[in-house]
Amino acid sequence: MSDLKESLMNTRVEFEEKIKSLTNSKEIEALRVEFFGKKGKLTGVLRGMGQLSPEERPAAGKLVNEVREKMESVFSEYQSKIADLENSHKLKKEVIDVTLPTSYKGAGARHPLNMAINEICDIFLGLGYSIGEGPEVEYDKYNFELLRLPKGHPARDTQDTFYISENILLRTQTSPMQIRIMENQKPPIKVICPGKVYRQDTLDSTHSPVFHQIEGLVVDKGITMGDLVGSLQLFAKKLFGEDTKIRLRPHHFPFTEPSVEVDLTCWSCGGKGCRVCKGEGWIEVLGAGMVHPEVLENCGIDSEEYSGFAFGIGVERTAMGRYGIDDIRLLYENDVRFLKQFK
Ligand code: DAH
Repeated sequence: MSDLKESLMNTRVEFEEKIKSLTNSKEIEALRVEFFGKKGKLTGVLRGMGQLSPEERPAAGKLVNEVREKMESVFSEYQSKIADLENSHKLKKEVIDVTLPTSYKGAGARHPLNMAINEICDIFLGLGYSIGEGPEVEYDKYNFELLRLPKGHPARDTQDTFYISENILLRTQTSPMQIRIMENQKPPIKVICPGKVYRQDTLDSTHSPVFHQIEGLVVDKGITMGDLVGSLQLFAKKLFGEDTKIRLRPHHFPFTEPSVEVDLTCWSCGGKGCRVCKGEGWIEVLGAGMVHPEVLENCGIDSEEYSGFAFGIGVERTAMGRYGIDDIRLLYENDVRFLKQFK
């Protein structure tokens, strides 16, 4: 019994000596293992109790428990003291002086595609149009059927896209916005709808599977092809300068009748013919036409009373012409060296 007492006291003294000199939580943990661990010094002393006679055991047990509790409370006191110390060191080290000057990276700039969209929208806002927006994930009905492209129509082949389900797809054009607008609004209508469209296309210098269009729609009593031509002429001059002319070529779109493709005089050579316009002097920028009476009727608008025109502008091509960009891929790579030039 006296042996046990002695080694218990020695252990406690050694423990208290050692713990005083500790400075960090690693050392604290090492001390915990040294004394309280499975093979620790205190554990070793407790094991010695097995050699005591049954009469001695209760008193020894009481003593052992008292000493252990004391040691444990000393331990946890030091443990939290050291943790506090470490914490406040860490906080001091990480303190931030909010009055120091920052490493200012400079403001960013608008993306050239958004610049083009803003410029074009501004022109039409000035002509009294409002702006509409709609979903990129669209019903087949809006993207095709109500625009007179029923399932199986051959013109769908040129606008293959990603189908979410049989009747839901990534829109291939902004023209479904014509339907969405006319379903919700009665004439007079005068709206432009910018947005992303999707087509099954391989990326090269002039094609991208995602690109942007701006749809225009005007519906009212007595709207004629003359209104369409006048509006587009004005748009071309405002965007590319007073000398810009437009040229209409007959075309076919199922949702307009008559339909045209519209060229602008080349922004690079002014019409003489150059590399940019492949010697043509003209560059195709949009499709347009008079809204087909059946499309008006599909949206509950009386085609005897009302008529309208619509157009779809290709944003990428316009932006590339406007800002002298020769490869469409530059618009999507987000290379800061490229984007910086548009500040
Ligand atoms: N949606 C057509 C396309 O992507 C472009 C277009 C043509 C839009 C004629 C129109 C239009 O509004 O009237 O090829």
